[in-house]
Amino acid sequence: MDAKDSVFSASEKNIFQMMTGFFTSKLLAVGVELDLFTWISAQPRTFTDIQSRFHFAERPCRIFLDTLVSLNLLNCDRGMYRNTPLAEALLVRGRPDFQGPHVQLFDHLYLACDNLKTALCENRPISRDYTYFFEEDRKRADQYSGLMHESSIVPAMVLPQYWDFSESQRVMDVGGGYGRLCLTLVSQFPDLELMLFDLPEVCEEATSFLHTYPSYLTSRIQLHAGNFFQDQLPQGADTIVMMRILHDWPRERVKMLAAKAFAALPSGGHLLIYETFKDQGPSPGDAAFISLLLLLISPGGECRTVEEMRSLLREVGFASVELIPTIYFYGLLVARKA
Ligand SMILES: C[S@@+](CC[C@H](N)C(=O)[O-])C[C@H]1O[C@@H](n2cnc3c(N)ncnc32)[C@H](O)[C@@H]1O
Repeated sequence: MDAKDSVFSASEKNIFQMMTGFFTSKLLAVGVELDLFTWISAQPRTFTDIQSRFHFAERPCRIFLDTLVSLNLLNCDRGMYRNTPLAEALLVRGRPDFQGPHVQLFDHLYLACDNLKTALCENRPISRDYTYFFEEDRKRADQYSGLMHESSIVPAMVLPQYWDFSESQRVMDVGGGYGRLCLTLVSQFPDLELMLFDLPEVCEEATSFLHTYPSYLTSRIQLHAGNFFQDQLPQGADTIVMMRILHDWPRERVKMLAAKAFAALPSGGHLLIYETFKDQGPSPGDAAFISLLLLLISPGGECRTVEEMRSLLREVGFASVELIPTIYFYGLLVARKA
């Protein structure tokens, strides 16, 4: 094989992967929706088991399983299908690293992505499901909040591994959704008080969600309904968390929110910004894809570099800003008020 052939074959492979990339994501989403990997995890299955479980005809079943094998999600050995280690670790419901909710979060934008060119040319969001961006749709919080709530399980659960909340007395989760992070923190830190700040309609849903948990936990969570652009943030917390909030907004709004957090914190308090930063994460493309997601849903959101965030946080008064890399595509930027 000469040099030209080898370059061609590598590029062709690459470009074929790109042109069929949406098949990969859709197959993954269908596998998760069927909960195939959880079911196979219980015991290896034959082709016929799978066919009858999901009522597939023979040809689609064969094509589906062949593609899952080619994607390294299933192995087939002597007629028995098993999860690969990758699928076993990340796609089985109930495992600590279960990625199902993230798969759903991205799959939710599958149809919107069909209009990506419109988003690029017209600089406007395509999906209107994240209703907090659109004043007129505000009352419908259920869909996006449900998706965020599900996909927050793992990031919320691991946050205390990266930041020691036992040093705090009261933490405010700004844009805290239904209260997943608050609940995680009250369960792990018996003396910690929590404040959840979110839009009134989301606080209503949070009340219903938190009601399903014992009151010895939820009595330490205070809900504050408000609009963080129109209202000041309440005082009283020594630590403020903004998890997956700031990358939703254009720079001037991010600066406004950082300034409000600065004003609400006492001296020595911390603002924890927990989201994806452009120059951080296991692979360089991660933040670009999160920005693409934000292009489809938000009027001005994108992932920013740690340096951009650091200079913005200094402009509003924070003294020191430190990045702590965490899991997947999330990082924790810690800003301290002197
Ligand atoms: C992307 S979600 C993140 C939710 C949660 N922190 C998480 O990571 O799962 C953004 C959150 O900010 C809230 N939010 C958006 N605009 C807001 C506003 N103007 N005032 C208060 N909360 C707002 C939304 O309701 C939502 O709960």
